[in-house]
Amino acid sequence: MTRLETNAATPVAMRPQSAAERFGVMDRPELKYTPAVARETAHLYERVRHHIPEIEWPVYAPYIHAINRIKKERGAAILAHNYQTPDIYHCVADIVGDSLQLAREASLVDGEIIIQCGVHFMAETSKLLNMDKTVLIPDIKAGCSLSDSITGADVRLLKQRYPGVPVVTYVNTSADVKAETDICCTSSNAVAVCESFESDTILCIPDEYLAMNVAKQTKKKILTWKGHCEVHERFTAAELLAYKEADPTIEIIGHPECHPDVIAVCDYSGSTAGMINYVKDTRPSRVLLVTECSMASNIESEVEGVEFIKPCNLCPHMKRITLPKILDSLLFMTEEVLVDPAIAGRARLAVERMINLKN
Ligand code: 13P
Ligand code: SF4
Repeated sequence: MTRLETNAATPVAMRPQSAAERFGVMDRPELKYTPAVARETAHLYERVRHHIPEIEWPVYAPYIHAINRIKKERGAAILAHNYQTPDIYHCVADIVGDSLQLAREASLVDGEIIIQCGVHFMAETSKLLNMDKTVLIPDIKAGCSLSDSITGADVRLLKQRYPGVPVVTYVNTSADVKAETDICCTSSNAVAVCESFESDTILCIPDEYLAMNVAKQTKKKILTWKGHCEVHERFTAAELLAYKEADPTIEIIGHPECHPDVIAVCDYSGSTAGMINYVKDTRPSRVLLVTECSMASNIESEVEGVEFIKPCNLCPHMKRITLPKILDSLLFMTEEVLVDPAIAGRARLAVERMINLKN
């Protein structure tokens, strides 16, 4: 036997199995649409049949089947934001919601592993509330233009410029920024959070349009920052009015990250969960959602008889999360989201103050 032969690969039985081998999905082409997979995912297809053509289901189903099986074996929980695509939202998520709901639920998760299907600040928020758990994001590059608009150093400068003014920070920020803040807010509670301070002036950062929309609902003086959501800033009042002119019965509902001129022509404005509840409760015959594209797709199947008009914009960051990347996350425990312990305590306090606020 030659030396080369002696050094040949260790027999499979003698080496530790990789996670991919252990879970039986070593080779992606082996993710086959078998009769068992078809049978066990049939009920899930019913939830997404409006959006996934039957001919494409054999591509989705093996991933969904594998993710749900491995998720169970790992004891992992999948938290998905309302902007995730219908295959993720309806077929693999354990908890869906807006930023506030996901933050609340993250603090209640039982298992040791959280897979955050959303953007990085959401995963960081989950980590802050679960420092002892493993928090994974399927694509670490899933960012946010609002979160990128401001740093902790910027907030320190603002505090020097406006001493004593309470700092309310949108949850769409890094842990570094949260650590410099008095309390966080989301689009669903921003007015209540600002109102919770006695001060008649509030720094509400970094979303300029959210702050302007809050200012219209409070007597307080609201100071802000020039951050914008790259998805919501693209909507204009003129385009929405054109829809209204074409059909005056159409209901327009918009996210508060839109410019106040856009919100002024909306019949309702609220967080993503607020928008979903509005449609479910009022059942308009025609509704136009002024927000990210997947929202309408996710609720369409749950509200029969409502026609959705979709001049939507895609969030490229949210769309980085896909089924194959979620499967990789579960198999290889990637990408882990960590928060510097030196700032985690202060950042967590800002999030917890928001969660504990009675509203
Ligand atoms: P919600 O808190 O309304 O879910 O908004 C999060 C977000 O990123 C909207 O762009
Ligand atoms: Fe950020 Fe806007 Fe994307 Fe929400 S939709 S994650 S605010 S870029």
